[in-house]
Amino acid sequence: MSDTPPQDAETTPEAADRSPSDREGAPPAEAVARAEELRRRLTEYNIAYFERDQPLVPDAVYDSLMRELQALEARYPSLVTPDSPTQRAGAPASPLFAPVEHAIPMLSIDNVTDREGLMAWHERVARTLAEAGAGEPEFICEPKYDGLAVSIRYEKGVYVQAATRGDGRVGEDVTPNVATIEVIPGVLRPPHPDVLEVRGEVYMPISEFESLNERMLAEGKPTFANPRNTAAGSLRQKDPAVTASRHLSFWSYQLGETEGVPTFATARETFDYLAERGLPVNPIIEVHDDIEAAHRYCLDRQEHRYELDYDIDGAVVKVNGLAHRALLGATSKAPRWAIAYKFPPEEKTTLLKDIMVSIGRTGRATPFAVLEPVNVGGSTVSMATLHNEDQVRLKDVRPGDTVIVRKAGDVIPEVVGPVLELRPPDSRPWSFPRNCPCCGTPLVRHEGDANTYCPNPACPCRVEQGIAYFAGRSAMDIEGLGEETVHLLVTEGLVSDPADLYSLRAEDLLAFRGWKEKSVNSLLRAIDESRNRPLARLLIGLGIEHLGPTGAEALARRFGSLEAIMEASPEEIAAVEGIGPVIAESVVSYFSDPHNREVVHKLKAAGVRTDIVENADLPQTLAGRSVVVTGTLENFSREEAEAAIKARGGRSPGSVSKRTFAVVVGENPGESKLSKARDLGVPILDEAGFVRLLETGESPGD
Ligand code: IVH
Repeated sequence: MSDTPPQDAETTPEAADRSPSDREGAPPAEAVARAEELRRRLTEYNIAYFERDQPLVPDAVYDSLMRELQALEARYPSLVTPDSPTQRAGAPASPLFAPVEHAIPMLSIDNVTDREGLMAWHERVARTLAEAGAGEPEFICEPKYDGLAVSIRYEKGVYVQAATRGDGRVGEDVTPNVATIEVIPGVLRPPHPDVLEVRGEVYMPISEFESLNERMLAEGKPTFANPRNTAAGSLRQKDPAVTASRHLSFWSYQLGETEGVPTFATARETFDYLAERGLPVNPIIEVHDDIEAAHRYCLDRQEHRYELDYDIDGAVVKVNGLAHRALLGATSKAPRWAIAYKFPPEEKTTLLKDIMVSIGRTGRATPFAVLEPVNVGGSTVSMATLHNEDQVRLKDVRPGDTVIVRKAGDVIPEVVGPVLELRPPDSRPWSFPRNCPCCGTPLVRHEGDANTYCPNPACPCRVEQGIAYFAGRSAMDIEGLGEETVHLLVTEGLVSDPADLYSLRAEDLLAFRGWKEKSVNSLLRAIDESRNRPLARLLIGLGIEHLGPTGAEALARRFGSLEAIMEASPEEIAAVEGIGPVIAESVVSYFSDPHNREVVHKLKAAGVRTDIVENADLPQTLAGRSVVVTGTLENFSREEAEAAIKARGGRSPGSVSKRTFAVVVGENPGESKLSKARDLGVPILDEAGFVRLLETGESPGD
């Protein structure tokens, strides 16, 4: 377990400059960065979920991040990018299977998590229909199956093709695999329409999942994590015989492309038609004529969710009338006539086997629960952080307790608390160890600080975590050098600081069991390449407390090299725009430590570049100035304009204040910004003026 990467500790000047009501304006730098971060994370989660069938986070986390991104994009439309996960319904199809284009896209469904959300959806639906004079909607309520969506095509009653959803437009051809699913007929019951595409969810029955895992255990093989991923993995097999052995199943929920199918008035009629053709239609689908009843359906499903032989993660409420659906239409991502009512995060109980303490890079000692593995929210949890001494005391969890575990609103599983009725009579409160479990040094906890630390900088755990952090993605980005490998290298005595990585030799690594030439070479290549990382990344990798990416970049740009930073006086460091007193002090104290200076010296001797500064050649014409952009520019996207300002040392906050140096105005500018600029006498520039400002730092007001 490692410490979280450092964040810039101080409030950014942008935050102080921004007015929350500034709807149409340029997004503040924080919003741009957050949107970028959300896009990156959601894309990563999509790929993990859809392509590798291994979700990285529980659905609740995914959904809340998606909602946050949608809200940001709604507020600042310039943040929408064509490849934003909000613009797509899933992940791109994998090259392993032939692509299948869906004649009618397979859309997603918007989510709500409570009654309020459901009622708000109902209000929108009812209003639209009332405005069209279309009368009251009826609702068809279904479980929300936690499987994977497929589209199955019959021509003249004969099964011809099955495809996964993919990105909603293009999926993967899984025809032979789906053909093995027993409940899916090879030939429909007559009468046969020319074309019938039925869409629905493939799932693995829980009973099947459990007996599969029993077989795996009996064969001494690793077990599967959950039915959804197992179903996905089973479907996307090159060999359909493997799919067949997994006994998957299917529930229908919709029609895709059709020809020669009767015209239906309601979704209920469609389901009846599908059932008559021999396709699986769930008997617990219900039609209700008011939203309160639909809400009760959702609550009922929630209450009885574990009584089913398949996993559901919510209920879906859809408008029943097809003419109503047509009136409501769809966004590019989801129909307006359906809403998924997602269940709250799952809670499970399990045995707390032990409480242990891990030591992070900064020496922080974090207690964590060692749990009897339990499947919660789609993945197996065997450890959960307990944060610090006070948290353990507050929750009063003890080894031997049965505890409630939840994965909610966060990637990290959480121990909610003990089930007191099940506490063993001889249990004792847990107490924090006095000594570091890693090096034996007495631990320290300062007054007013919730955290406990190992003060020994040479503590092997700290060293290991520090090296792993140096190699991590936010720092030197050395692929293949994760915590386990670092642990091996440190315990084998090959590495005791980050600089030692650069003297690793192939023969040292080849001596490890299971290490082959290929992996050794690729690790050494990755280490070698990291010699040429930008200075800001190197600074991050050193793990200087409080120094985040923004501060590191500011230092790199101002001083140009690590040597210059080390030689700078505390005043010079503190004078850098974006470096507050806390960061400055931490930087100075880091470089005054002889051990740290020695590591830097070794890094340089190992050929690690200490002077690569991105955008170094740009004159810092806007150093310390804030320039607000509003409206659409011809030659710069909003992000580009902001990046151009930032690259020249400036800032681009979301609103105008008396500290604003200039306001750049494009097409359709925000009126509030313009009038505020006029009121405050802030120079207003057009695009040509902006270009001149970037080049010279001069505005017409100068
Ligand atoms: S209807 C356009 N009905 O949820 C409507 N989908 O978030 C889309 N899902 O891709 C399909 N249960 O995989 C529908 N009763 C249900 C569903 C359901 C689960 C899945 C489906 C879809 C995803 C959308």
